[in-house]
Amino acid sequence: MADSVFGYLFVYEIWVLGIVSTWAWGCATDEYLLPQFRSNVGKNHLDIGTGTGYYLRRGQIPASTQLTLLDKEHPALEVGLKLCGRSDAQGVIADILYPLPLPEKNFDSVSLYYLLHCIPATVEEKCAIFANIKRNMTPDGVIHGANMLGKGIKKDSSFAAYIRRGVLRAGIFHNLDDNAYDFEHALRQNFEEVEAAVVGSVFMFRAAKPKYDL
Ligand SMILES: C[S@@+](CC[C@H](N)C(=O)[O-])C[C@H]1O[C@@H](n2cnc3c(N)ncnc32)[C@H](O)[C@@H]1O
Repeated sequence: MADSVFGYLFVYEIWVLGIVSTWAWGCATDEYLLPQFRSNVGKNHLDIGTGTGYYLRRGQIPASTQLTLLDKEHPALEVGLKLCGRSDAQGVIADILYPLPLPEKNFDSVSLYYLLHCIPATVEEKCAIFANIKRNMTPDGVIHGANMLGKGIKKDSSFAAYIRRGVLRAGIFHNLDDNAYDFEHALRQNFEEVEAAVVGSVFMFRAAKPKYDL
């Protein structure tokens, strides 16, 4: 078990977060994503789709921050809890396409990195998650993340096109219609403050202050 976990860690972090993110998607994790993560962690943080725990281990999260990890899959949550670097982290199994089994107005920060492009759902269904998650956020809460787009981006390099074909064919990515306009629009509908940018083929976002009445 330990060997397979560390093998996965090595492959995912070196290959996906290192080489592919930088050279295929044009969005270096260390340069763009990790700094955004580090600047937006509050006192009670929810990380959705933790993966190998890369951001939680390298995110310089204060020991006083309460940490909750949420994933749809038990094995993935187990890996996240094992590798996140915090023995006191809580784990929750849930699907973010549905209202979350978590307290209302509870988290002052929420992260979801490299998750939305993996979900087999329409872009409308993906956009609807913000209306769910905001109910679990405090009035000054912030949500931040990043995901790979499939539409409205510059032409892929041959390396990016090769990777994209492979992950679509393997059923790892479900993002053919994912576009920045729809995601930003959904964020603006649900939050008072929105910052969004496309870096390479990656949609990066930070939104704060949920609009509860919608
Ligand atoms: C590619 S990993 C992201 C890893 C990490 N956030 C990162 O950027 O390195 C996506 C994770 O999201 C989880 N996931 C996929 N669909 C989900 C859903 N509908 N609800 C909750 N978690 C989901 C998967 O089980 C997986 O652990």
